[in-house]
Order: sequence, then C-alpha cells, then structure tokens
Amino acid sequence: MHPMLNIGIRAAHAAGDHIVKFVDRIPDLSVNSKGRNDFVSEVDRRAETIIIDTIRKAYPKHGILAEESGPQGDGEFQWIIDPLDGTTNFLHGFPQFAVSIALKYRNELDQAIVYDPLRQELFTASKGCGAYLNQRRIRVSKRNSLQGALLGTGFPFGDSKNLEPFITMLRTVFQKTAGIRRAGAASLDLAYVACGRLDGFWEFGLNPWDMAAGALLILEAGGYVSDFKGEENYLNSGNIICGNPEIHGELLVNIDQLRD
Ligand code: IPD
Ligand code: CA
Ligand code: CA
Repeated sequence: MHPMLNIGIRAAHAAGDHIVKFVDRIPDLSVNSKGRNDFVSEVDRRAETIIIDTIRKAYPKHGILAEESGPQGDGEFQWIIDPLDGTTNFLHGFPQFAVSIALKYRNELDQAIVYDPLRQELFTASKGCGAYLNQRRIRVSKRNSLQGALLGTGFPFGDSKNLEPFITMLRTVFQKTAGIRRAGAASLDLAYVACGRLDGFWEFGLNPWDMAAGALLILEAGGYVSDFKGEENYLNSGNIICGNPEIHGELLVNIDQLRD
C-alpha cells in the first residue's frame, strides 16, 4: 500500500472513532451556523484537528486544504479534508456520514479515502491502482441506460439561485430512472457510484473537500467524472456529474441545457 494512503487511512480511522463516540450525545453538542443551512459542531472541528495532526506528524511539509480551517502551506502535495461529510445527517442522528480525505500530487488526485465509521466501510484508491472497499476491488455498475438506473443527487440548499436549474434537471431525468436518492453525504454518494450501488450522481455547488476523494474512487473504479460541460473542472466549478461511462454520458446529454 502507498505509504501516504496508509497515513490517510490512519487519520480517517482516528477521526471516525472520534465521531462515533458522539452519536448518542448529539443534544449535548455545541453547534454553530456557518451560513444558511450550513452547520458545524465541535465534533467536526475536533475530527479535523485529529486528521491534520496525524498527517502533519508524518508529512510536516505537505499543504492542507481542510473544510473548517481552510488552506495551510503549499507545495507539490496537498491534502483535501472533509472531517465530517454529512453534518446535518449526523446532527439529526441520520446514519449517513463519512470522513473524506484526498491527496493531490502536482495538482492531480493521487490518493483517496472515504470512511463510513458506522458501517465501518473504508473506500480507498491510489492513482493507477484501482479502487477498494475494505480491501476488495470495486467497480462501477454495468447498467447501460438510465432506464432502471438508481441515481444519487444533492439539493442545492445553500444557494437558492441553483434551485430552479436543479428542479428542471430533476424533472428531466426523474422519469427515466428507477429512482433518485438524496442521502446527504456527497463523499459517500460518490463512493457508492464507485462500488456500483448507485449508477450515477450529480450535484451543484459542492466544495473540493466534498468531492476530491470520491472522484478518484470513481475514476479508479472505471467510471467517468466531469463538470456539467463534460470537462475536468469539477473541483473548481463545484458542479459534478459522474457515473459508469454510459450513465455519465446520458446524464450529460440530459442536462446539456443547464451547462455551467
Ligand atoms: C454537505 C454534504 C451534502 C451536500 C452538501 C455538502 P457537509 O457536506 O456533502 O450531501 O449536499 O452540499 O455541503 O457540510 O455535511 O460537510
Ligand atoms: Ca462536505
Ligand atoms: Ca463537513
């Protein structure tokens, strides 16, 4: 295993262990609002510190982009961290949240970890080496059309300007599929595309820490990931479409009219 992946896994496990300790103590937590429908708890912040400390101990010179503390340092290596993806779920006791950690090397995604601490599902990928769930190789689904497909998405709750385009998109694809899920933790949605539980996924207005690890999982599992133009700018634009190659293509065609 790549040594940097190993450190990322250690950090994700430590953060996940911390998060699950609080699952039965949610009413006691101190919670702040970062913006409209955007919350952060002391658990998010402590989990982030645990991850950063673990990485810094092994790689003191690496750069970091973490959701709660922002960018630190620079250089060829940058860790992109979402210490608790699915905070709203977590705060409601809805069991769908994860730790997401990615490493970029020379601006390319290189290592990925998405860890669901409740189910103890560890999704990992190293560039060029495939994607894994608890050390077993995973691949995207083989479904070759939207008909019968199960898709994931996310609601653009933070920014109301995205709501109308989102609803148009939902209307366009909804009736062609077997169903659409909004589970509330983008990193896990992407991990589920990588292992074939979902055939595809799209969302507007995400941040790099929501997507970085999950995107590499999908690419290494044989899927496609793009922005709404079919290009690779998803980490910057925040708009992502992904799936197995056929579903990705169909989703792109269907939302062509909503290009960013
Ligand atoms: C959120 C989740 C959610 C997505 C939001 C994200 P957070 O992350 O990934 O699924 O729809 O856009 O902000 O705030 O819980 O880390
Ligand atoms: Ca997130
Ligand atoms: Ca988060």
